[in-house]
Amino acid sequence: MTAVAGWNEEVAREIVTRLVALDGAMLPILHALQDEFGYVDPAAVPVIAAALNISRAEAHGTISFYHDFRAAPAGRRVVKICRAEACQANGCEGLLDEVRARAGLSPDVPGDDRLTIETVYCLGNCALGPSALVDGELVGRLDADRLIGLCANGSVEDAQVAAGETK
Ligand code: FES
Repeated sequence: MTAVAGWNEEVAREIVTRLVALDGAMLPILHALQDEFGYVDPAAVPVIAAALNISRAEAHGTISFYHDFRAAPAGRRVVKICRAEACQANGCEGLLDEVRARAGLSPDVPGDDRLTIETVYCLGNCALGPSALVDGELVGRLDADRLIGLCANGSVEDAQVAAGETK
């Protein structure tokens, strides 16, 4: 499998070797790889599997179980949309349906180098849901117009102001 540009197998192996002796080494390894490269390249799976003496399927299963780990570099704009209970009660699924229908945007599908949309479960902004984290900034009371604008690289601050979240 060809690694995505930016991935460095030698550095990845050094990271795995450095952390493999830890108790529960899998998660520290994955976090360290993502910190280093911004994602966990699929090429890491056989390296991790061999180091931890587990199957590739197990290694892959762990990576895909945790939403924090991405398998490709993030886009320049990263939108993490909350789909936990309170945001669901505030209509996040209908919001996502509308955004999908109007703009063809869906979370958790490979995007391009401009945009990454991911699902997260609770951002601690439950009372102001539907909520999202946009480039690390919390935005609440999302509606479809604002979410589409944010996905198109619109101003996070303007979206916060529009939501009545002026600081
Ligand atoms: S449930 Fe969405 S922020 Fe808590």
